[in-house]
Amino acid sequence: MICIESLEQQAKSILSQVHYDYFAGGAESESTARANIEAIEKIKLWPRMLRGKYSDTLQTDILGCQMSGPVIVAPTAFHRLAHADGETATARAVAANNGLMIVSMASTTPMEEIAAAARKINSDVNLWFQLYLQPDAEFNRYLLDRITTAGFKGIVVTIDSPVFGKRYRDLHNGFNELPAGLNCPNMEDGKGNLRNIEFDASLTWEGVNWLCEQSSLPVAVKGLMHPGDVDYAIQSGARTIILSNHGGRQLDGAPATIDVLPAVAESVARRVPLIVDGGFRRGSDILKALALGADAVALGRPIIWALAVNGEQGVVDLLSTIDTELQAALLLCGCRNKQDINRELLFINQ
Ligand code: FNR
Ligand code: LAC
Repeated sequence: MICIESLEQQAKSILSQVHYDYFAGGAESESTARANIEAIEKIKLWPRMLRGKYSDTLQTDILGCQMSGPVIVAPTAFHRLAHADGETATARAVAANNGLMIVSMASTTPMEEIAAAARKINSDVNLWFQLYLQPDAEFNRYLLDRITTAGFKGIVVTIDSPVFGKRYRDLHNGFNELPAGLNCPNMEDGKGNLRNIEFDASLTWEGVNWLCEQSSLPVAVKGLMHPGDVDYAIQSGARTIILSNHGGRQLDGAPATIDVLPAVAESVARRVPLIVDGGFRRGSDILKALALGADAVALGRPIIWALAVNGEQGVVDLLSTIDTELQAALLLCGCRNKQDINRELLFINQ
């Protein structure tokens, strides 16, 4: 069994301080990174007793991707800094778990290699690709072709990064480039050049609309925080919304995602699937998000810690631990079916 707190401690002892800080850190005072976790902890589950077994399945379907449960691997950069097997190991673990992995544009393994390795475990593996729209439309089109050819099932555009968050741990540590031998091969432009990822402050909803029109794959927007932005996302063509503050790594001072989940879920009104991330660490946390209207929950840092500690098997073990915890939480709460997973399950002490 894996306990997430000890997993992070083990990862910390394995990784260099500089790399641990990159993974663990947040922007500025890290108040949003902390708030994500604290806000989830503050919401309590309010159990009902003696109502019998849970009879529904936990299977979750997002845009036709069938998953064994509602847990998704969020896009995170640089897995080969955590473990030599990098993104390939993460993707194979997700394939074995019948989950969904969102591969980061900043992966340290080419997207094609990740997809091929995962398909060896599960030929129908669910992989989506996350990108930051680049200011160069031609490069974006080239990237879309690559993603589609590689067999990804969805595209995630991250919209919370007009600039890169100020991360003082990295600035103090002087962490501003990858060690020799590592790079971001998804940024190869087809002409033999490796580009840097640009954060484009001029991006607007029109850009998202452009992407949705160009792409033959469904597009999710990631980094939406305000219920007032939901209609813009849907009208721009987004087929899924990922409510996220980037794990507190972009705007420090943004609220915890679980605190804004009810308002965003109300605004989405089940028109498209709603995924949330930020501070979710265990099965009972997932249950809280589902009760507040999320269809699925994505995990960022816990996956990195599992990968660092035990590679592919580490991620397999973590995903199965969370599934087991979620099943136990459902039973302990007296949930009989999916309908029972609602606000009445929560004790919110303001
Ligand atoms: C991220 N995140 C992120 N998001 C994204 O859209 N593209 C990316 O390349 C990355 N890279 C990245 C690296 C690291 C080290 C972290 C911790 C996070 C954000 C990520 O997808 C997700 O929103 C958060 O990690 C969720 O919060 P937790 O689960 O880490 O608390
Ligand atoms: C990060 C970027 C890569 O959060 O999204 O580090």
